This record gives sequence, structure tokens and C-alpha cells, in this order.
Amino acid sequence: MTKYKIALMPGDGIGKDVMDAAEIVLEKLALDAEYVHADIGWEFWCKEGEPFPQRTVDLLKTCDCALFAAITSKPKEEAEAELIPELQGQGLIYRSPIVRLRQQFDLYTNLRPCKAFEGNPLNYRDDIDLVVFRENTQGLYAGVEFHPLPADVRMALEKHSANMAAFDNVASEDIALSTRIFTREGCQRIVRRAFEYADQHGYPTVTIVEKPNVIRETSGLMVREARKISAEYPEIDLWETNIDAMAMWLLKNPDDYGVLVSSNMFGDIISDLAAQLVGGLGFASSGNIGDELAVFEPTHGSAPKYAGMYKVNPMAMLLAIKLMLDWLGETAQAAALEQAIAEVIAEGQVRTYDMQGNASTLDVARAVAEKL
Ligand code: IPM
Ligand code: MG
Repeated sequence: MTKYKIALMPGDGIGKDVMDAAEIVLEKLALDAEYVHADIGWEFWCKEGEPFPQRTVDLLKTCDCALFAAITSKPKEEAEAELIPELQGQGLIYRSPIVRLRQQFDLYTNLRPCKAFEGNPLNYRDDIDLVVFRENTQGLYAGVEFHPLPADVRMALEKHSANMAAFDNVASEDIALSTRIFTREGCQRIVRRAFEYADQHGYPTVTIVEKPNVIRETSGLMVREARKISAEYPEIDLWETNIDAMAMWLLKNPDDYGVLVSSNMFGDIISDLAAQLVGGLGFASSGNIGDELAVFEPTHGSAPKYAGMYKVNPMAMLLAIKLMLDWLGETAQAAALEQAIAEVIAEGQVRTYDMQGNASTLDVARAVAEKL
């Protein structure tokens, strides 16, 4: 038996292109691992009405971790229209498989490092080293949403909030409600992971990015819990910054910041901004980490118009492998891979189109593998 069992989930569009790139590097790394393919994505929605089939859930339960590439998501009406005729009109609802995967396996930490590699022409600045900790299962992604607003939900809201009076004259069909749910434990565990990481990697600050002056209860709970946890780390400063101001500060003084921690939606937004500072989504990797399973992915989407062209930058996917190696405890291999990636970027000989080069996705992977 191998030491590790790792699922590979290419998904849709360029997901397959970058997974092929990943496999070149994995082969070179020669981990003591068994790799198993897992079905996920649009293809399975269209054919089976289920983009995240139960067989994939079952397979993941037997794995140590997984690499996921990208999937396509479409709005409700378009999703219905692309189902095979036999499945249409059955009330099947498409929900993003990656969001479900995070929730079903309680992958509550979304770790998103954004570090500028020397010599990357796309860097906004060369001195950026940020790590975003995004809560990954709750908040606005909890999936508790209503439209039209059911009468009993409306009554409960009227009973408990004087502010509902502002909507007295609006018909229930004309109200849509998406809830933002935080639990104390949900706040504690993500903030704790952020402090542990800052501690282990020598970052002097953790910035909690919320908006407690307006979103008093949810953001308020998270900030209060952060203050308590911060007391256990006297050598690390807790900075409290509102999400809007954070967007501004990240453009103005990105080098002031180290570890950022935020809730699901704000973390989603701020991590795209942070990614752009270090060359865009082509360089942004992410780890969805729970206590039992972890799934590593590039942050970018499936870019259908480039599918199968082997044109896109695989660096985000290769950096996701680096995160996976760290998580597995294969830290020497992780450091070697990061070094190989840094060298290929610094030398600037093998670059995809986003970096003004004409190398293919697989050329980049081969160049990284060669450095290894
Ligand atoms: C991300 C993506 C996903 C998210 C989408 C694809 C559902 O934007 O991983 O940041 O919103 O979390
Ligand atoms: Mg996102």
C-alpha cells in the first residue's frame, strides 16, 4: 500500500489542461502515492443531473487529500436547459459542487497565499507576501436563502426586528433574502488557524477583515472572538480593518500586511484582490482544509473559451501542489517545488500568454519538472 491516496478532480474547461500540467510535476515528484481520478463538474450535471456524484463523495472519504482544478457554473435557467432531455423539468437544482464539497467535508479553512515571485512582470509590487484565511463553510455561502419570502419567515423577522417595518409595503414575491450565518465556533476555528499560521511562519500581524460597525451581529461576533484568541498570542498584533478600507489599504500599502482573516464572502473578494497584486489568478492557489480531508485548487475558474488549448498559466495549479505537500508534511518537497517555480518565473524563458510569452501550459509544467 502507498503512503498516500490522492484524488485528482480535473473538472471542466481548462481544469483538464492544468491537471495535465499537474500530473507532469507529480510524476517528477514521485511521492509514495496512489492517484485516483474523481468525477466532478458540468459534464456530470448535464448527463446525470448531479455535478458532484455520490461515487465521488465516497471516493473522497477514502483519500488523504485531493487536487481539484476548476468547474463551470451557470445560472439556474441555463443550467436547466443544458440537462439531457430525460432530466429536464424534474426540478433538479444546480448548486456549485466546490461549495458543496467544502461544506460536506467541513473544509472550514480556505488558505490563500499571495506571494510575489521575483521577476514576475505581472507583480503589482515585488514585496508582497500576504496570506488570506477565508472561512469556508458559513456566512453568505450557508445556502439559507428565500425568494419569495415565506409567510412564516416574514412573521418571525417582523417579530424579532423593528427594522422589518421598512419593508411593510413590499409584497413577499418582491423580497429576496440571503442569510449570513456565523457560529461562535465557526469564527473561533478560522481565527485560530490564522494565528497559528502567523505564529509558525513568523508573521507579526493578523488582520481581521470585517465590518462590525454596520453588520453588528455577525461581523461583531467574529471580531470579538478574534480579540479573545489574540490574547493568547501576545507577540502577534491583531489589526481590525473594515472590508472596504482593506481594499483601499491593499492597493496603497500591501507590504504592511501579513495574515488576513475574514468570513466567507469578504474573504472571497479580498483574496481575488490580493491575487491580482501578485500577478493575477494565474498565480493564486488555495487550500480547502478540514480536520480529516483537504482539497487543493487553483483559485481561477474554468475559462471555457481556452479549454483544451493548453494556453493558460498552470502556476496556480502547481502552487496548489506545493500547498498540498506542506499539508502532507512533505515540507522538503514543498520547498523544492516552490524553488523550482521561482526559478522558472525569474528566468523568464518559459512563459504563458498572460506573461507575454508563447509557451504552452505543459511547457511550463515541464520547465518546472526539469528544475526539480
Ligand atoms: C473561489 C470561487 C468560488 C467561491 C466559486 C467558483 C463558487 O470564486 O473559490 O473563490 O465563490 O468560493
Ligand atoms: Mg472567488
